[in-house]
Amino acid sequence: MTLVLGFTNYLSPAKQLAQCLASPFKHIDVHHFPDGESKVTLPVKLPKQIIICQSLNQPNEKLIELILAAQTAREQGVEHITLVAPYLCYMRQDIAFHAGEAVSQKIIGKLLSDYFDAVLTVDAHLHRIKHLSEAIPTADAIALYATPAMSALIKQHFENPVIIGPDEESNQWAEAIAKPHQWQYTIASKQRLGDKEVQVTLNDINLNKRDVVIVDDIASTGRTLEQTVKQLRPQSPQSISLIVTHAFFVDDSIKRLKALGVTNIWSSDSVLHSTNAFSVIDILARQISIS
Ligand code: R5P
Repeated sequence: MTLVLGFTNYLSPAKQLAQCLASPFKHIDVHHFPDGESKVTLPVKLPKQIIICQSLNQPNEKLIELILAAQTAREQGVEHITLVAPYLCYMRQDIAFHAGEAVSQKIIGKLLSDYFDAVLTVDAHLHRIKHLSEAIPTADAIALYATPAMSALIKQHFENPVIIGPDEESNQWAEAIAKPHQWQYTIASKQRLGDKEVQVTLNDINLNKRDVVIVDDIASTGRTLEQTVKQLRPQSPQSISLIVTHAFFVDDSIKRLKALGVTNIWSSDSVLHSTNAFSVIDILARQISIS
């Protein structure tokens, strides 16, 4: 028997995971002391195998609580711990761009591998490496794709959309979504000038009266999506939709996108957000079932 454990701040997807796996679910209790420390309490009498489901957006506090939970489980005799992290933090900084910078991908990857036997995530932000195991040296480190769920949602709304990836990296999502349905797709080019400043250049493509769907893995400041929308709007598409796996949409980005006339903003439940429109939990559950 494998028990699924979840924290209050990511409760509903964790419970959904347990349901998909037909496994029991229990709750990890966290008390926050006034000084900012966390007291983590696990259920007692844990089975030999457990899964901890926690999404690692806003990661600093969550990482500490996760490590406290995993070590406490080991001390109860748990032999195999899987971390299901629908959003996995600290994967972006994979090299030191300037002298003295911490390579967070390697450091956090090693930390997770010290405590977990397997790590599963979705659309990990991996640039210069191919496999998650290069970042997290465990026996099983697997990054899955949200594209089947994205495709299904788009299909529910549009018969013949045009899929647009805002930058080279988004090619993997745009292609995986568009090709199986023979939808047209194109990849723009992006130049990032600062945290909140990007330039997007669209290829020559006719979008007049088309249903356009812009796809990306992450919306952080939303500026990448915003600039892409600004580039294609003059062509008068019939509708403009945005679909991302991980929704951060910081500050007033949703308001800004809506002001540009965006019809739909969709994201997955990898990060809990008002734009959540599809789930990646069943994709993760399927992988666990076949492992
Ligand atoms: C970049 O590599 C990512 O795929 C996203 O395009 C990027 O993180 C989005 O950031 P923002 O929303 O801040 O433009």
